[in-house]
Amino acid sequence: MQQVKLVAELPEHADGVEAVLARAFGPGRFAKTSERVRERRAMPAPRLSRIALDGDGQVIGVCRIWRVEAGAPCYFMGPLAVDPAARNQGLGLTLARESTAACRAAGEAGGIVVVGAEKFFAPLGFAVTPKGRLFLPGPANPARLLWLELRPGGLDKVQGLIG
Ligand SMILES: CC(C)(COP(=O)(O)OP(=O)(O)OC[C@H]1O[C@@H](n2cnc3c(N)ncnc32)[C@H](O)[C@@H]1OP(=O)(O)O)[C@@H](O)C(=O)NCCC(=O)NCCS
Repeated sequence: MQQVKLVAELPEHADGVEAVLARAFGPGRFAKTSERVRERRAMPAPRLSRIALDGDGQVIGVCRIWRVEAGAPCYFMGPLAVDPAARNQGLGLTLARESTAACRAAGEAGGIVVVGAEKFFAPLGFAVTPKGRLFLPGPANPARLLWLELRPGGLDKVQGLIG
């Protein structure tokens, strides 16, 4: 892959991020239950989010992080997207890994929740949430509701409705 740089999200990335998300998810993007979480009380955390820039400075990937509440403060990851031309070279996993590391270093919340494929996120330590422990504000496959503890006991009080 050409030289790719990962940086924290800045306002100047907004148009590029929107273009990547539109290409990755299409018009159905705003119907996703994760969007219901993000439009509730979630606060964007741009310093913990990661943007992938190609050699020309164009946005080719994004992993956003939000601060949410679910019984206790936690982070909510997503959307995660990589431009089709840059896929299957490890960039998606690297974006998620670097955002996770930034959350861990920030130390403000005990864990991260994400809606996604367990197979994809398992290498980072994410696991399916225990049955009945967490709820999204809309329909979701419980097998895709994943979380990761950032410090010992960090998820002990995380429960209920996310958002
Ligand atoms: C998911 C996505 C971000 C992965 O980006 P990427 O740069 O190709 O990821 P990586 O190269 O790090 O990892 C590729 C692996 O992820 C797997 N993968 C890709 N999309 C997947 C999905 N939706 N579910 C499960 N696994 C997926 C690939 O099969 C590949 O697995 P392999 O290494 O065993 O062959 C990218 O495919 C994308 O933008 N998809 C559309 C948006 C989306 O579905 N986002 C995920 C929401 S959680």
